Amino acid sequence: MARENPATRTAFGPMVLAAVEQNEPPQRRLVQDDLASAFLPAGLRAVVAATRAAWLRHLMIAATERSGPGLWANLACRKRYIDDKLAEALPDLDAVVILGAGLDTRGCRLARQTDVPVFEVDLPENIARKRSVVSHALGGTPPSVRLVPVDFERNDLAEQLAKEGYRADHRTFFVWEGVTQYLTEDAVRATLVSLQTAAPGSRLVFTYVRRDFIEGRNFYGARSVYRRFRERQQIWHFGMLPDEVDASVAQYDWRLIENTGPDYLLRHYIEPSGRDLTASEIEWSAYAAKA
Ligand SMILES: C[S@@+](CC[C@H](N)C(=O)[O-])C[C@H]1O[C@@H](n2cnc3c(N)ncnc32)[C@H](O)[C@@H]1O
Repeated sequence: MARENPATRTAFGPMVLAAVEQNEPPQRRLVQDDLASAFLPAGLRAVVAATRAAWLRHLMIAATERSGPGLWANLACRKRYIDDKLAEALPDLDAVVILGAGLDTRGCRLARQTDVPVFEVDLPENIARKRSVVSHALGGTPPSVRLVPVDFERNDLAEQLAKEGYRADHRTFFVWEGVTQYLTEDAVRATLVSLQTAAPGSRLVFTYVRRDFIEGRNFYGARSVYRRFRERQQIWHFGMLPDEVDASVAQYDWRLIENTGPDYLLRHYIEPSGRDLTASEIEWSAYAAKA
């Protein structure tokens, strides 16, 4: 049997964080996600439930902040940012494609308000896990949500999506959240080639890790994150520099609308929440429209 890709295990972290955030008072939450806890396995649900105690929650956040200053807020705020952009674009969309969806709840939350088709793409192991999680939490996959097994390193994304009923002429919102760093440059480029022919009016939001961090030239205070992902597990491969994003997406016929780093997250989400948190330089979000 083929060995499980170690990147599949990374689907839990962002959802634990989103679930723990729900234990903050509503006005202090960085992200709203009432399904996050239900999508976690029982052991992690218990951990999340324990963080209803504020002292334990603050301890967990402080521990994360020690290993990667600003990363707690980055992960929560990137979810919020993508939810905001998707909500804005929704009236003019025909489909949503979530690349490397992991245990993200966005597709199922969306299915409660619209029957716009949602295609959730991930490695086969995580697609099987998602099917079982969604069935346990919601009694079955919502009719508008399709779960599509794809390995971006090996499979043709466009072909797999078409097999599941995706129509290339649909104005589509593509989400690629917390995934590009796990891929080789070849897989990132192959995915962008698949999205190059997206219908006019489509949108793409993706996150990326700074290339100077990936190359070990600047740790931004997160040496232990580097040790974990680059040295011990060796599962982070790809990075970009914020200055390169505009030209990089233009090569695939996308027009950059916004390139969002820590200042944006602080101004739009962290400061209004009144939380004493910083944002990290390591991970940025890019938002683009089909040219
Ligand atoms: C850190 S998780 C992010 C999950 C989700 N987007 C979120 O932000 O909550 C990274 C996801 O990328 C997926 N992934 C990594 N390498 C992949 C590949 N080669 N093909 C498809 N999915 C991949 C993993 O399985 C995992 O679900």
